[in-house]
Amino acid sequence: MVTNTCLTDSMIYEFDAPFIFWTKVNNHKEIKDTIVPVIKMISDNDNATVTVDGSTTTYYHQKYSYFTNDMLEDIIWKPLEQMHEEKNISKPQGYNLDALWWNNYTSGGRTKVHKHERADWSGIYLLHLEEPNTTTFYSQYGEAPNSGYMNQHKVLNDAVEGDVIIFPSFMQHCGDVCTKNRIIVSFDVISEYERSPLVILN
Ligand SMILES: [Fe+2]
Repeated sequence: MVTNTCLTDSMIYEFDAPFIFWTKVNNHKEIKDTIVPVIKMISDNDNATVTVDGSTTTYYHQKYSYFTNDMLEDIIWKPLEQMHEEKNISKPQGYNLDALWWNNYTSGGRTKVHKHERADWSGIYLLHLEEPNTTTFYSQYGEAPNSGYMNQHKVLNDAVEGDVIIFPSFMQHCGDVCTKNRIIVSFDVISEYERSPLVILN
């Protein structure tokens, strides 16, 4: 939604994004009771995981027989729909789930500042927290090189276990250092539009 704010003769134009949206995942307890034991078992025994900065993760593989479509409805699709309604932003013709992975952090674990280049929307489901959430977001354009003036960040400790956070994939963020066990499920969603087949002259 475009917002024009009028203060006497002055005007302000605000873009639709970036913003950070979060909401409760339906059936969180059932999902957690099903998924966390599997994640813990895989973290200990499976060679399809990698360990990065104190976190065991499945970032590089895409086989998740333990997630059901019903779970993905609760974790991804319903919250994404809710986000569109609350922000009143237009939707593409469709969405595809491009990637899903989890991170199981031990004490001292973190994920350094990054963004998700491939997607349109990304999300983080706080599956198991033993302390306040450490996900931190950084203002995208506040990069004044001389002073740092307007550089902003937000530690999203308002979000709690059982919440899913959705944000534009281009937003820089990190999982700051945790001191206890922390398990999150992340995902990337891509917009889909019908296009004519590509034709190239020989
Ligand atoms: Fe991320």
